[in-house]
Amino acid sequence: MIKRPRRLRGNLAIREMVRETTLERRNLVYPIFVVEGTNKKEEISSLKGIFHYSVDRLEEEIKELVDLGIKYVILFGVPDEKDAFGKEAYSETGIVQQAIRKVKELAPDMYVITDVCMCQYTDHGHCGILDKTGNVQNDVTLPYLARIAVSHAVAGADMVAPSDMMDGRVGAIRTALDEAGFMNVPIMAYSAKYASSFYGPFRAAAHSAPAFGDRKTYQMDISNTDEALREVELDIEEGADIVMVKPALSYLDIIRRVKDNFNMPIAAYNVSGEYAMIKLAVENGLLDEKAIYESVLSIKRAGADIIITYFAKELCKWI
Ligand code: PBG
Repeated sequence: MIKRPRRLRGNLAIREMVRETTLERRNLVYPIFVVEGTNKKEEISSLKGIFHYSVDRLEEEIKELVDLGIKYVILFGVPDEKDAFGKEAYSETGIVQQAIRKVKELAPDMYVITDVCMCQYTDHGHCGILDKTGNVQNDVTLPYLARIAVSHAVAGADMVAPSDMMDGRVGAIRTALDEAGFMNVPIMAYSAKYASSFYGPFRAAAHSAPAFGDRKTYQMDISNTDEALREVELDIEEGADIVMVKPALSYLDIIRRVKDNFNMPIAAYNVSGEYAMIKLAVENGLLDEKAIYESVLSIKRAGADIIITYFAKELCKWI
């Protein structure tokens, strides 16, 4: 035999020498859920190991991340007050706006990304403004999203990440940011976001499940691939700086196709259901904890440059 692939697997040194993909801290973005009130740090029952923090308790969380060397966070607000127009989403004193200011005060170098959407803020739980029949009105929703994004930038967000899946929202947000003087705030667009069952634990954590119906008129059909490329292309045309595929683990094929087709930084969201599955299996002794690294590594190998993951802290053990 001339060809013996095992030659390159003989010991750790040679395996490390030929290793193709590794996770690095700079690839990881950690999600933080911020709630109203004071002195709250409560474990989220659907997302073990992840907590709801009130703004005054964020210090602990931020310190832990800084100590671990995690440099990127994405903030999600869980407001007390909801209405048909989601006005707390763009309020100057909204929960996310307060949290942005707090994180920047605690750790000026922490890169703060914000999720731009309405579902946590509307009383009906949909990602936009409804018409009388309960349908989400696309064009009516755009100025709201733009206003939310600008309010985040005003509060000090480094980057905004629209996750609503309205048509034209990247363009609307880009124009509004530019007009407000935030031409250097990048947009990371949730471009190929599927109508997935894997968001369940997040919706329980963010109190954002739709009160009726589902999100299938705006989030993508789980069966489609070409459509993902069209969505990505549109977002790039409208000014997206980074494009995202979400979820990640059941959509590795989409990540790879997007990577092969566009010369753009690609993000992937290792969503709540993916976290919960592996977390519970590890906790119950069904899987070795290294399955965490393996699963997130697969997202990088598929082509993602940036990975939003609830596992960010645990991954630091192996990085
Ligand atoms: C808001 C939003 C959702 C997630 C991120 N932003 C929920 C949804 O679309 O229903 C899900 C993230 C996760 O499951 O971890 N639209």
